[in-house]
Amino acid sequence: MNMAAKGREKIREIYVNAGGGYKVTVGAGLIDKCGELLRPVLAGDTVMLVTDTNVAPLYLKRVSSSLANAGFRVVSYAIQAGEASKNMVVITSLLEFFADSGLSRSDAVVSLGGGVVGDIAGFAAGVYMRGVAFVQIPTTLLASVDASVGGKTGVDLSAGKNLAGVFHQPRGVICDVSCLETLPQDVFADGVAEVIKTGILSGAELFSLCESRIDKSENLIDIIEKCVQYKAKIVEEDEREGGLRKLLNLGHTVGHAIERLSGYTILHGHAVARGIAVISRAAAALGYLSEDVLRRIISALEVNGLPTTTEYAAAELAAAAISDKKRKGGTITLVMPRGIGDCALVDYPVDELEGIFSLGLSGAGTNACDGTGAL
Ligand SMILES: NC(=O)c1ccc[n+]([C@@H]2O[C@H](COP(=O)([O-])OP(=O)(O)OC[C@H]3O[C@@H](n4cnc5c(N)ncnc54)[C@H](O)[C@@H]3O)[C@@H](O)[C@H]2O)c1
Ligand SMILES: [Zn+2]
Repeated sequence: MNMAAKGREKIREIYVNAGGGYKVTVGAGLIDKCGELLRPVLAGDTVMLVTDTNVAPLYLKRVSSSLANAGFRVVSYAIQAGEASKNMVVITSLLEFFADSGLSRSDAVVSLGGGVVGDIAGFAAGVYMRGVAFVQIPTTLLASVDASVGGKTGVDLSAGKNLAGVFHQPRGVICDVSCLETLPQDVFADGVAEVIKTGILSGAELFSLCESRIDKSENLIDIIEKCVQYKAKIVEEDEREGGLRKLLNLGHTVGHAIERLSGYTILHGHAVARGIAVISRAAAALGYLSEDVLRRIISALEVNGLPTTTEYAAAELAAAAISDKKRKGGTITLVMPRGIGDCALVDYPVDELEGIFSLGLSGAGTNACDGTGAL
């Protein structure tokens, strides 16, 4: 069956009741229809397409044509691909470009790319003229299952990741799984780490799909749908991360510390995979998680080609994590897995962090660190 036929057969729509409320549409071949899909939700004449230097040659023309055919004036801007672009200098250039292009308050910004493009474009859309309409067209698995939904946008500061940003919910998300076919394998695996995170949080239905290798095959539409449904539910209950939404940070305290210590050379999902492994081992050592479930989590990461160890010492990880924005006063909230579909938010004094991380690094009670998968 060709992609177009497959696309017609399988289109999923998930409604997210946050911001003004919006639909996430998942299917194959959707970028060629983005103009008609977006016309009902965008009132203005102009669409500012923000993409990056890798995605532009692959998909910009098709997206622009579809938007132009639906009657939009299309202007585009390609940022340099990569996390290093997530900074205020790029935001300033982008905002100046919006103004020079005559983008008005009733117009819209559309991101075409991965989480980096989505976070930058969303932030710029959130502050330009105090907020213009925003749409996400994610082109990585990570952005499809996580970053494009929920309205968190922002950039990094030298003090840490995502330290400057705004909540700005999109008017719509169009997720075309056929764009994922051009993803390099390591970038695809990056998204799988977030899928595994969502599987641990949401329960057996999704987690069991992560226990064998996830590839760019047909069930991706089902997997993305399940991840978006879970994220939508959490975001609807706690849009501004007052409590419940913090669960989505599973593996991210250590993950962000690793990203930072590596100077952002370790990809986000690969850092999160290590973070999930470390916190799961610590949870087992502290008696939150059974050895059996720990084994399943480590094995799901390994089967998907993701790392489960880190070269950084517990003290380095703790120091980097303490400057992360998720710290509150003298305590830090960690997401502790207790089982599949059962994670808890636990506050720890920051001076206990190093000890907790060292439990996760030593793999207390397991031989998870040896990479043989023979647990
Ligand atoms: N806002 C949120 O809620 C949220 C959630 C999770 C992650 N994030 C952020 O997302 C970012 C990571 O996102 P990412 O993994 O998508 O990274 P990314 O945007 O850097 O994309 C990874 C690489 O893939 C390339 N690429 C994108 N689509 C492609 C395609 N279809 N074919 C070939 N190459 C393609 C990009 O140019 C880039 O080089 C991080 O900055 C992270 O903080 C945000
Ligand atoms: Zn993440």
